[in-house]
Amino acid sequence: MKRLRVAIDGPAGAGKSTVAKRVAQRLGILYVDTGAMYRALTLKVIRNHIDFSDRDMVTDLAERTQILLQNSPSGQLVILDGEDVTEEIRTPSVTRAVSVISAIPGVRKHMVVKQRALASRQGVVMDGRDIGTYVLPDADVKIFLTASLRTRAERRFQDMLEKGYLVTLEEIEEEIRKRDELDSKRDIAPLEQASDAVLIDSTGLSIGQVVERILGICLNYLGTD
Ligand code: DC
Repeated sequence: MKRLRVAIDGPAGAGKSTVAKRVAQRLGILYVDTGAMYRALTLKVIRNHIDFSDRDMVTDLAERTQILLQNSPSGQLVILDGEDVTEEIRTPSVTRAVSVISAIPGVRKHMVVKQRALASRQGVVMDGRDIGTYVLPDADVKIFLTASLRTRAERRFQDMLEKGYLVTLEEIEEEIRKRDELDSKRDIAPLEQASDAVLIDSTGLSIGQVVERILGICLNYLGTD
């Protein structure tokens, strides 16, 4: 198959990672979760008690950090300096801090180099906030996946309950709203729909329906539908 690069962007809780993973599996290409990379660095910042507002220290840490995304039978593993942190990067403390860390220009510069290198070697489905606009502006297929704030909060709420966290739907909704605002208003590569991206609103759609729609767009691009 031709080397295909698919960019999937959108706000928190829109279902990007679940959908992107399945699309990548069906196309037989690599899935790259760029949010996981920012989350792994955020975890290291927290563990090292670095002040989030010390941009130089955080950037310096990013340059001294190895983050690998490894495929395994149980899904994609996130390896931080040799340690499996796949579960830990999803905790509320990382989620609350990640938008601040990912808004630091030096951090983004460093991550984007890694993300572009991954996409230069193979076909990828890459999900994030700035993939279609900044990381891979010439991606073959660009999707902007969204859903209503309430729907996204309800999905995250279910995930958190399943993981045993005691949270309310209102707390989750407020956290997502804040994160959307930070991600959309930052100076560098903010969350926004690329002018050539296809908008998919997943409110009321199942994961399977979204996956099929994106696969249809990819196959159409490849001329094999
Ligand atoms: O997709 P996620 O919730 O795991 O992403 C975590 C945070 O990382 C998100 O709030 C913003 C940031 N992020 C980013 O700035 N750019 C990306 N390409 C991916 C994520």
